[in-house]
Amino acid sequence: MAEDALAPDASHSPSESTRPPINQSRRYFLIGATAAVGAVGVVGAAVPFLGSWAPSAKARAAGAPVRIDISKIEMNNMIGPIPTWRGNPVFILRRDEAALERLASQVDNLADPDSTREQQPAYAVNSARSRKPEIGVYIGLCTHLGCSPKYHGKVQAEPFDATWQGGFFCPCHGSKFDLAGRVVKAVPAPANLEVPPHSYVSDTEIVIGVDEENA
Ligand code: FES
Repeated sequence: MAEDALAPDASHSPSESTRPPINQSRRYFLIGATAAVGAVGVVGAAVPFLGSWAPSAKARAAGAPVRIDISKIEMNNMIGPIPTWRGNPVFILRRDEAALERLASQVDNLADPDSTREQQPAYAVNSARSRKPEIGVYIGLCTHLGCSPKYHGKVQAEPFDATWQGGFFCPCHGSKFDLAGRVVKAVPAPANLEVPPHSYVSDTEIVIGVDEENA
């Protein structure tokens, strides 16, 4: 799967006036176990939606949880942005052992490697910032002014960083995030990418908007 095809389109970036405030609330609300759940089949960024949506768009905008099939995400690739939870785009990526080792060891250039600046789910306070290290789930909005960062997953020199180790780059003002959505030092973005509440229905399906702890 071509990485460029997976890269979020900055043209879809919400404007400063329309995007929700980054820290408007920490959005980890209690949702009952009987809450309606939308079903979404995802096979790749090129065709992000194959399933039917339920509940309604209005309910989704209000924060209804949504199921997402993650079985087709290839190693070291991502799907998204998926406009799911509360209308926010969501990035879901799969990382191999080498990437996870980099996340654990390469922290000196990070502004908040332990996710202490922002309230995050407890399961996001680890080097992979995820429930399962291989899978990362992040809100695809730059914490500066809400542009959609682009996925650059490979370890290679990039025009914006000659020593790039993989992650996300926001072209709006140059913010950089690693593969766990952690912001690097000395960029405009003040915080790591947000981790939405999510839980696993099975090894191949997650629900955005529901914490196991709160279901
Ligand atoms: S909105 Fe991303 S760097 Fe400004």
